[in-house]
Amino acid sequence: MERIFTGLQPSGTLHIGNYFGALKPAIDMLKSHDGMLMVADYHALTTLKDSGNLRQNIIDATKDYLAAGLDTRKTIVFQQSQVPEHTELTWIFECLVTVPFLELSHAYKDKLAKGLEANAGLFNYPMLMAADILLYDTDIVPVGADQRQHVEYAREAAAKFNNTFGETFKEPKERINEDVATLPGTDGKKMSKSYKNTIPLFGTKDDIAKAVMSIVTDSSGESPENVYAIHQHFRDRQSLGELYKANKGKYKALKDALIEDIEALISPMRQVRDAISDADVIRVLNEGSAKARERAAAKMADVRRHVGVLL
Ligand code: TYM
Repeated sequence: MERIFTGLQPSGTLHIGNYFGALKPAIDMLKSHDGMLMVADYHALTTLKDSGNLRQNIIDATKDYLAAGLDTRKTIVFQQSQVPEHTELTWIFECLVTVPFLELSHAYKDKLAKGLEANAGLFNYPMLMAADILLYDTDIVPVGADQRQHVEYAREAAAKFNNTFGETFKEPKERINEDVATLPGTDGKKMSKSYKNTIPLFGTKDDIAKAVMSIVTDSSGESPENVYAIHQHFRDRQSLGELYKANKGKYKALKDALIEDIEALISPMRQVRDAISDADVIRVLNEGSAKARERAAAKMADVRRHVGVLL
């Protein structure tokens, strides 16, 4: 059976771009595949330096996954930091790839352009992600379009290792849902925490209404494109077409309809989320991390043997 692996950074509230781009497709696939969903807390450390915030975000992000329908009897949900083999394997990959190769990373260049500090962790980020994926013999990585190059990096790391030390790693493939490869935010650019243009997945109805009302609309046309671009993920094409036809030029009415459609999807999940305690989350993560450690330890024993450090 194909193995699925994906991860999300606990660097703030999840938004509907994360949900439609990665979380929902992953959860749908995980119903019929062996797989793992990882809280990428050491990736978040590249930008987040507040321990209280990080701790709370790890708990909140895991609640989001569970409320979105993840079945922990089937899927291993775990914390990256609790499986030290991830950082160990990162080091080995870093000794195989070159600095110019890592300099090609779009995500790194984008982050620098946004004014983030160029710390070494941010630069080496793709090799930690390669280790995440390759440690578990992953076949498929469901992600949004912005992670495509990172999965390519993982394939390259696998190939470099296999060529140098002998066949050890599978080369994984990304799975990008082209319909939602890049969900736009309230300003029409890619929805992203760092652009402050998000619609929160588990915000209150007021938070969602505020975000929707702030969607930038172009007054020249009859149909607000930025509203439609988000709305199409909440309704089928035909009923959406009828709604937009009946409300030509009525931007407020269309935004109100979008708020109601978002609310209809989220409110049952919000109820599930409210019933999940911090203790539930800690138990799920501890159990998941223990299982992940078992798998990772077996793989790393093989890796160490291939590298030549196992005497
Ligand atoms: P992160 O935390 O930035 O985003 C989590 C997932 O959400 C997707 N996404 C989007 N999809 C569509 N439209 C958008 N506007 C949008 N914004 C975000 C991202 O593509 C991603 O799939 N490096 C990863 C985390 C990671 C990981 C891994 C992923 C660490 N290790 C191993 C897969 C496998 C990241 O920062 O995602």
